Amino acid sequence: MRVAFLSSEAVPFAKTGGLGDVAGALPKALVAEGVDATLIHPLYDTTDRALLRERVFDNLEVDWLGGRRTVSVYLSYAAGAPAFLIDAPEYFARGKVYGFPDDHYRFAFFGRAALALLGRLGQAPDVIHGNDWPSGFAAAWVRAGRPWGGFLANTRTLMSIHNLAYQGLFDPGDLYRLGFKGGEESNVFLSNGAASSLKAGLMTSDAVSTVSPRYSFEIQGPEQGHGLDWLMRQRRDRLVGITNGVDYDAWDPATDPHLPAHYTADDLSGKRACKLELLRRFGLPEEPGRPVIASISRLVAQKGFDLVRQVAWQVLEAGAAFVSLGSGESEYEGFFQRLKDSAPHRVAIYRGFSEPLAHQIEAGADIFLMPSLFEPCGLNQMYSMRYGTVPVVRATGGLDDTVEQFDPETGEGTGFKFGPYDARALLGEVREALHWYTRPEVWRRIQRNGMAVDNSWGAAARKYVRVYHALFDL
Ligand code: ADP
Ligand code: GLC
Repeated sequence: MRVAFLSSEAVPFAKTGGLGDVAGALPKALVAEGVDATLIHPLYDTTDRALLRERVFDNLEVDWLGGRRTVSVYLSYAAGAPAFLIDAPEYFARGKVYGFPDDHYRFAFFGRAALALLGRLGQAPDVIHGNDWPSGFAAAWVRAGRPWGGFLANTRTLMSIHNLAYQGLFDPGDLYRLGFKGGEESNVFLSNGAASSLKAGLMTSDAVSTVSPRYSFEIQGPEQGHGLDWLMRQRRDRLVGITNGVDYDAWDPATDPHLPAHYTADDLSGKRACKLELLRRFGLPEEPGRPVIASISRLVAQKGFDLVRQVAWQVLEAGAAFVSLGSGESEYEGFFQRLKDSAPHRVAIYRGFSEPLAHQIEAGADIFLMPSLFEPCGLNQMYSMRYGTVPVVRATGGLDDTVEQFDPETGEGTGFKFGPYDARALLGEVREALHWYTRPEVWRRIQRNGMAVDNSWGAAARKYVRVYHALFDL
C-alpha cells in the first residue's frame, strides 16, 4: 500500500495546532504498520534547514496559472517517514503558515506541485490522503483528471477533516485562473456564494474521515455542520471517525527532554519538581499545595474561552492558580492580561507559541481545562492524561470520546466532563475536580487511571489502513 500524505503542517517542519502533531506522527505510524507512506509538505522559511537531508529535484515543473513554474524539492527523514518538502519561496517563505489573502493560491499551488512530484517520482500512490482545506485542491484535481485516464487514474483519495470550521473560502472568480475550467470541476467548490477548497475536497474524495467518531456524527447536524452538514449526511456511508493518537516519543513524562525532572505513574515525585519549577518560571509563589489549572490553546471561541471568562474569578476564589499559554483573538488575550493584572500572584500568562513551555505546563499543572464549544479531537486532554494532569472538559467531539468521567463509587475514570455549553456547568466540574484534589489518595487514583490509558498511534494507524483498503471496494 503506497500512500502520499499531504499536509500544510507537520512536526518538526511546521506546527500551528493539532494538525501539525497528527501529520508529524501518523505517517511514521503507518510506516510501522508496513505502509509505504510518504509525507508531502511545503518548505517554509520557518522550517529548520538542518532537518533536510538533500535536494532531490531542482527542476520540478508544475503547470500553474496557464504556464509553468519550476521548483526545488527536498527530502527529509526527520518525521520518521520520508518527507518531500516543496520549495516555492514566493508562496511559503512568509514567516508564518496561514493568514494571507492569497492562501488559496498558495495551497492550490501546493496541491499542484504535490501531484507533479508524484508524477516525477514515477510510481502512482494507491492513496492520496489529504488533510483539511489546504489539501482540497489536490483531491479536486485527481477527480477532474479521472475521465482522461493518465497517471493517477487508479489512485484513490481520502480527505481527513481536522476542523470543519476552516473551509478555505475564496472568491469563485479565481477558480478559472487556478485551473478549474467550469462545469462540475468548478461547481464542487461553490458554497453559499463563495468557493471553498474544503468543500471541493469533501465532494471529490473517494472517502472522508474525521479525527474522532463522535465528531463524525456531530458534523452531520446543523449545530456543528458549519453549513456543510447536508454534505456530511450525503456522504455518511463514506464517512468514518478515527480518534487521533499521541506520539509518546514526544509526549512522555518519563523521557520528555523539555522537563526539569521525569516521572512515571509509579513514582510521581518528579511531577512535584516540575510543578515547583513551573511556579518559579512564571514568578508565582512556590506553594506546591495550591492546585494549578492550565490551558494551552489557540485563543479562539472554539476552545470555550467565553465560558472561562465567566468563571475565572470564582475559580481563583476557590483557591486555584491559573496558567495560560496561547495567543489569538484580542478579546481573549485582553481578558487574560486583565485577569493577571488583577491577581498577579495567582495568574500567569505567556502570550505566544512555545513548544518547550507546552510540555513544561503539561507536567507542572494539576488540572487541564478544555471546555471547548466544539472539538474535532483535541490532543492536549490526551497529553494531560499521560502527564498525570487531570482534564476538565466539555463532553463534545473527541473530548467526549477520550475522557472518561471520574466515578468516586468505583474509582474509575480519567477526568471531569460537563455537557451543556454553560458557565455554571463548567464551574461545577472545576469545583468537583478541586474537591478531589484535596483528597490525595483519590487524586492519585485519577492521575494513575489517566496515565495508564494507551492512546498510542498504532491502533489508529491500523484503522486508517483498513480505510485505505476499503477505498478499493467502492
Ligand atoms: P487545535 O488543533 O484545534 O489547536 P489540538 O488540541 O488538537 O487543538 O492541538 C493543539 C496543539 O497545539 C497541541 O499540541 C498544543 O500543545 C499546541 N499548542 C496550542 N497552542 C500552543 C502554544 N501557544 N504554544 C505551544 N503549543 C501550543
Ligand atoms: C484540529 C482540531 C483538533 C484536532 C486537530 C488534529 O485543529 O481543532 O480538535 O485535535 O485538528 O486532528
